[in-house]
Amino acid sequence: MKVAVIGANGQLGSEIVATFAGNGAAVRALDHSHLEVSSLESVTRCLSELEPGLVINTAAYHHVEKCEADAALAFAINGLGARNVAQVSQSLGAKLIHISTDYVFDGNKRVPYTEEDLAAPLNAYGNTKLAGEFFVRSSNPRHFVVRVSAIYGLNPCRAKGGLNFVELMLKLSREREELRVVDDEFVTPTTVAEIAKQLVVLSETSEYGLYHATAEGSCSWHEFARAIFDLTGTKVRLERARPGDFPAKVPRPKYSVLENSALKARGLNLFTNWKNGLENYLAQRDGSKS
Ligand SMILES: NC(=O)c1ccc[n+]([C@@H]2O[C@H](COP(=O)([O-])OP(=O)(O)OC[C@H]3O[C@@H](n4cnc5c(N)ncnc54)[C@H](OP(=O)(O)O)[C@@H]3O)[C@@H](O)[C@H]2O)c1
Repeated sequence: MKVAVIGANGQLGSEIVATFAGNGAAVRALDHSHLEVSSLESVTRCLSELEPGLVINTAAYHHVEKCEADAALAFAINGLGARNVAQVSQSLGAKLIHISTDYVFDGNKRVPYTEEDLAAPLNAYGNTKLAGEFFVRSSNPRHFVVRVSAIYGLNPCRAKGGLNFVELMLKLSREREELRVVDDEFVTPTTVAEIAKQLVVLSETSEYGLYHATAEGSCSWHEFARAIFDLTGTKVRLERARPGDFPAKVPRPKYSVLENSALKARGLNLFTNWKNGLENYLAQRDGSKS
């Protein structure tokens, strides 16, 4: 099967390319220089040449503050861009995997969100990603809309720049004696390696629809930092952030834990506890350095 991966040099896209290629797919890795998703003409030209059986769209404008500052641009990429990819993949007879986000929720729940829960985004990023979901669902019936959350992997997120959370914590622990990390925002950290494997399994089915795809369990960012330091034997004083230590410029969900109900209902769920993913990431990272 020919697979076209959009956003192929991104944090998630690069892992998807490697995993699908490792699974025997003929992968075409498309980065921003190959196509601009907000342009229907660009998407049509690029994908028509390739004639893929499966398109995977990881491209997004997802720096939350930048989205808030330029919601029109965010909508052009996250909303209309998703529509363009969905329309073109449909016209080519290709399946589509579209990556979305936990930020479609407002975070007011205290038990994990299922696919049945009402989306109510708090910010422009979440709103434009939700618009993208609707465009995909109405433009290509052979779609998998896959919401992921708090992802990390060997390649950093291009939109956010800098290091992923694990690397940032380890770097700061070398530079400081004490670290303060927020304890009132709950997520499920999930490695891109786990997501990519799950997408391979999903892509081989015809179980189209909306999916949550995160590791099991949940933690605050403070608990995540604690686990990173415990597993790496790092000695640093880890404190809870005080109110006002990290004032949010844009509202974000305080609780965005997702339940993989749809994957589980179909017997497709591969994810295990987020701590297993962290252990595997740390081993992989050490292996890639030696
Ligand atoms: N990072 C997270 O924690 C997180 C959490 C929840 C959901 N997600 C979702 O997961 C997906 C992947 O995230 P990621 O962390 O892998 O992001 P990333 O590292 O920033 O990668 C995004 C990729 O998309 C490309 N791209 C951006 N705008 C484009 C456009 N207009 N046309 C074509 N390509 C474009 C980027 O290229 P350039 O960099 O060259 O522009 C980059 O290759 C996104 O859909 C995001 O909404 C991420």
